[in-house]
Amino acid sequence: MITTAKRELAGERVRFTPLQMENIYKHFAWNNDPELNMLDSELPYVEESFGEFKRRFEEMLEHPEPNSQDFEVHAEDGTLIGVAEMTHISEHNRHCNLTLTICDRAYWGKGYGRDAMQALLAYCFRTLRMHRVMAEAFDYNDAWKRLVEGMGFKKEGTLRDFVFRQGRYWDKHVYALLESEYRA
Ligand SMILES: CC(C)(COP(=O)(O)OP(=O)(O)OC[C@H]1O[C@@H](n2cnc3c(N)ncnc32)[C@H](O)[C@@H]1OP(=O)(O)O)[C@@H](O)C(=O)NCCC(=O)NCCS
Repeated sequence: MITTAKRELAGERVRFTPLQMENIYKHFAWNNDPELNMLDSELPYVEESFGEFKRRFEEMLEHPEPNSQDFEVHAEDGTLIGVAEMTHISEHNRHCNLTLTICDRAYWGKGYGRDAMQALLAYCFRTLRMHRVMAEAFDYNDAWKRLVEGMGFKKEGTLRDFVFRQGRYWDKHVYALLESEYRA
């Protein structure tokens, strides 16, 4: 089963590691950030106590989801700046879903997202030999839509009125990139 990162994963400026207990305070702060929640999760924001989060985080480290891979994203200056996740990894169908959150706002709009996506896609297609990588974007997330589209993902459809945020419904767009498109 494809479940663990087998080798060091890095871009030109970012480096990926597994989730680390020593960084739990940053993960806790990001987990309790309503804006990040709105951008990368369809679950409504619910503030979580440190104790509850710690139990969940320990469980994630001890018993990772079998068809997912979680990473911390570190900048070249060593700062932990975000997280990335491959989910719904299907070894048979050779597809997966990709998410990336640059959680530290000081690092937004400086090319870290693009560098991280390039490294993640190389890992998916070249190392894990995926055939298809998916990404999903809420309609209000212009940065993520632009990043994904800029990496060559094709929009395959729209789930209309999928999330309820700020008093109204918003669409969610589904994107995918095939191996042949990535290599071209
Ligand atoms: C979306 C995200 C990963 C982009 O990473 P980033 O490092 O800020 O973006 P980059 O500097 O690498 O830029 C990538 C592209 O996005 C565009 N972009 C960045 N911020 C933008 C913004 N606020 N609005 C519109 N486009 C934006 C850039 O112009 C660039 O496109 P271009 O090359 O065509 O000009 C990052 O902003 C983020 O993690 N946001 C919060 C969580 C999130 O939305 N995650 C995605 C869903 S899982």
